[in-house]
Parts: sequence; structure tokens; C-alpha cells
Amino acid sequence: MLFDILTIFPELFRSPFEEGILRRAVAAGKIRVNLHNIRDYATDRHRMTDDRPFGGGEGMIMKPEPLAAALDDVQSKGERGRVVLLSPRGERYDQKTAARFAACARLILVCGRYEGVDERIARCCIDEEISIGDYILTGGELGAMVIVDSVARLIPGVLGSEHSARNDTFSRGLLKHPQYTRPREFRGMEVPELLLSGDHAAIERYRFVQSVRETLRRRPDLLAGVRITRTEQKLLQKAGLLEEATAAGMIHE
Ligand SMILES: C[S@@+](CC[C@H](N)C(=O)[O-])C[C@H]1O[C@@H](n2cnc3c(N)ncnc32)[C@H](O)[C@@H]1O
Repeated sequence: MLFDILTIFPELFRSPFEEGILRRAVAAGKIRVNLHNIRDYATDRHRMTDDRPFGGGEGMIMKPEPLAAALDDVQSKGERGRVVLLSPRGERYDQKTAARFAACARLILVCGRYEGVDERIARCCIDEEISIGDYILTGGELGAMVIVDSVARLIPGVLGSEHSARNDTFSRGLLKHPQYTRPREFRGMEVPELLLSGDHAAIERYRFVQSVRETLRRRPDLLAGVRITRTEQKLLQKAGLLEEATAAGMIHE
């Protein structure tokens, strides 16, 4: 998958792609990340990418011409990509959107700075606006990194085993079950006995119940519309969680 990132600070992106899973994904050719400096598309002597807002007010606004020229140039090279503007007013980013983006062959991420971009860019050149949360960042770059990171790990072959992405928190609308590693006892706390039993089917059932328990406790809103099988229904009944899970909107098959 190809990611193009339009930014006035391309250097900010060097290290995230030089470590861990993302570095390996780039090396294996599973993802490619092209950085484009918006400033290279500014035509004036000072290569200005911002200007004062019409109507007055605080701060500076990203000028439309360099951004539009950058987008035209990037789109003219290869397959057309889906253009996403990082923007606090956009749709809130979540795992479903990550999965939708992972199905694209090419994603073009536009990072705003200053007080944001000229409205006409949003109207003419952007397919959708995405917010990474209800807070204000100084620029869209961290948001673009969040998107590349979360989308890349959904691309087949990027994680060691595809199983790990399938079982992640949110992939089924459930939070991940609590996890443990060695030592068996830490500061007086024991690892749940069943996890040491080697009975993989029993461990899987136990983890499912723990996932639902965690989700009910921390994020019951996630359970609305989550489908469970008859076997899972019985497991929740036995654990005394079925009524609460049903009230939260879990659907039985
Ligand atoms: C300082 S912010 C502009 C905030 C704008 N003045 C407002 O009040 O909505 C500059 C840029 O950072 C990015 N940004 C800030 N917060 C964001 C968020 N929560 N999600 C995505 N992008 C964000 C956007 O690209 C935005 O254009």
C-alpha cells in the first residue's frame, strides 16, 4: 500500500518509519511512504505556505495554491489516491476507518498547520476529513502517523501473524482480555491458574469471557451490535454476564 504525506515538516516523519514493525513493512515492500514538502509547491520568493485570514482574526491559514499544486502533482503520478485531510472537525478516527483505509491501494494524507487550511481546499481536493480525537494538536503530522501505523498493521503480512490483528482490541467490538507473562507471581499477584493449564480451548473460552467483562467495565458502548454465537451466549450466562451484555446491546445469533 502506498501512503503519500503532504506536510511542511517532512523531517518529523523520519524516525517513526525507521523502527520496529513499520521499518520491516517498508523494507519488505508491504507499505511505501512518500513524503512531500508542501513548501516545494509555493511559487513566491519566500516559499510561503500561509497567509492572514480574510475577515481578520487570530493566526495564519494555509494557502490553497501550494496545497492544490502538491495534490495535483501527487495524483498525477500513479493510481489516484483517496485524499484525507487531518482536521479536528473531521469524522472521529477508529478501527473501522482504519480497516476501510487498509482496503485502499493509495492513501494521501494532508497535514494542516497554523489555524488550518483554506476552506476551498476542503471543498475541491479532499475526499474526507478525519480527526484523531477531540483535542487540538499543533499540526496534522501526528495524526498522519497514527493513521499510517494503524492501517499498516492491518495489511496482510505486516504483522508476524495475521491472527494478532484479528484478536486485537476493537477488531470485534471487544476490548482485549488481560494478558500476563512471566513471572508467575509478581508482588503477591498470581497469574490466573487456568492460563497455566495448557488447555487451549478452555483458555480461549476464559479469554472471551474476560474480554466481555473488561468491555462491560470500561467501554460498554462498544458492545452495541456485537454478535455472539450460542456457545458464547452460554459462556456469558455461566459467568453471570449475559443479562448485562444483552442490555448493553450484544446480539445473540
Ligand atoms: C492548531 S490546528 C488548527 C485548529 C483550528 N484552529 C481549530 O480550532 O479547529 C492545526 C492543524 O492540526 C491538525 N489537527 C489538530 N488537531 C487535530 C485532530 N484532533 N485531529 C486531526 N488533525 C488535527 C489539523 O491538520 C489542523 O489543520
